[in-house]
Amino acid sequence: MSRAYDDYVVLCDFHDCLQFCTGPLNGILRSGAHYLKVLVIGSGGREHALCWKLAQNPAVHLYAAPGNPGIATLATTIFTTDYLSAAEKFRPDLTIIGPEAPLVAGVADQLRRRGFAVVGPSAQAAQLESSKAFAKALMASSGIPTARYVTADSALRAREALRGFAFPVVLKADGLAAGKGVVIAHTPEESEAAIHSLLNLSRGLVIEEFLEGPEVSFIALTDGGHIVPFEPTQDHKAIFDNDEGPNTGGMGAYSDSRILNSIERSQIMDTIIEPAIKAMSAMGHPFSGFLFAGLMMTAEGPKVLEFNARLGDPETQALMMRLDGDFLPALQAAARGQLQGVDLKWNPAPSVCVVLAAHGYPGNVRVGDPITGIEKVENALVFQAGTKQVSNVLQTAGGRVLGITASGATLPASINTVYEEVLRIHFDGMQYRTDIGKKGLKRW
Ligand code: AMP
Ligand code: GLY
Repeated sequence: MSRAYDDYVVLCDFHDCLQFCTGPLNGILRSGAHYLKVLVIGSGGREHALCWKLAQNPAVHLYAAPGNPGIATLATTIFTTDYLSAAEKFRPDLTIIGPEAPLVAGVADQLRRRGFAVVGPSAQAAQLESSKAFAKALMASSGIPTARYVTADSALRAREALRGFAFPVVLKADGLAAGKGVVIAHTPEESEAAIHSLLNLSRGLVIEEFLEGPEVSFIALTDGGHIVPFEPTQDHKAIFDNDEGPNTGGMGAYSDSRILNSIERSQIMDTIIEPAIKAMSAMGHPFSGFLFAGLMMTAEGPKVLEFNARLGDPETQALMMRLDGDFLPALQAAARGQLQGVDLKWNPAPSVCVVLAAHGYPGNVRVGDPITGIEKVENALVFQAGTKQVSNVLQTAGGRVLGITASGATLPASINTVYEEVLRIHFDGMQYRTDIGKKGLKRW
């Protein structure tokens, strides 16, 4: 899956510390007209998958900040989170921002102000993800279907608001919480505990009605006006099989065109994605980048659980495997506001990504466990996330460590292949779900 490059180290002296980069030297020396320099911001499996896809274009020279050891086999990695200095130094033709934190911190705005082409929304537009209260208000004012809700900024108000809801009820922290800011309370005792724990995490709460149905991750690329929808995916948020245990950032995902039929796709575009993009523009905060709607497919139709202002992780790993052809033209068009008429081609073969997580995840994670067997994987891609290279030994360095991603002619075949390949990998304390994609089998 990786292109081989000679190892080398370049010292970069921006700011007052020395940082070093690894990766292909040629692109830096010959970063002339025949190379298109693309900077990917982030260090997760999502960014590794993006880099894997972009590296298929031989005219692309990839940079990643801060990247990870897997990304370093494809890109010049710049070990910094000072993205502005990295961009000033390497002058990328296009920058793609992976995670929410830099978007919310205004990195897209700062880069655009300096004349860089960027895929990713402004900080104002990223409020769709960073503030659940903002997102809910936008949905309410533009008639986007979502769960009935009330906001509360104190424990007292939250208790009052809860009187208007039946159990189970959903309580959400009004801010970024890395997938851990949502509690489904089944009893008054649970809701009381949730009020306290969530108010410790954030400035306020959103309390909303509990929705039932299958969940779908629906992602679209937009330039603020035109919209290119992606194929549907399904995430698996809970740590254990059968959706048991605490929520995580995502323990696996699959992409299969059968997740949504054409009527459902049109409904989602007409009632959710288009109205959200229009409302953001009307508000003076046009949204450009990846709009990700976490949906519940209820008996009354699709309803929004949350918006994210970025690609999903691990949804992207599954999606990149199904994306045919070059991704770059669509990304460039999005950054330039020229997405009209752009289409993406998707391979009909379903894909499945199984996340291998570290000991203790999603709680206190143990790091430093040596990872073996990646070189034995033959029929899957290994996207790295929480890894680090310590004197030639790859070790665990975060909660979600690897995303093993495979594709086959059918969903059952993809699932079989991915789990055969998972068995080749080992690290102490490795945890993974054994049922990724299983919910999709009923459609086959
Ligand atoms: P969120 O971060 O808002 O996507 O919520 C995380 C997870 O909590 C979702 O993936 C759902 O499984 C669950 N969830 C969130 N909102 C609701 C809701 N209104 N009804 C039922 N489940 C929900
Ligand atoms: N997998 C869900 C997310 O990226 O938020």
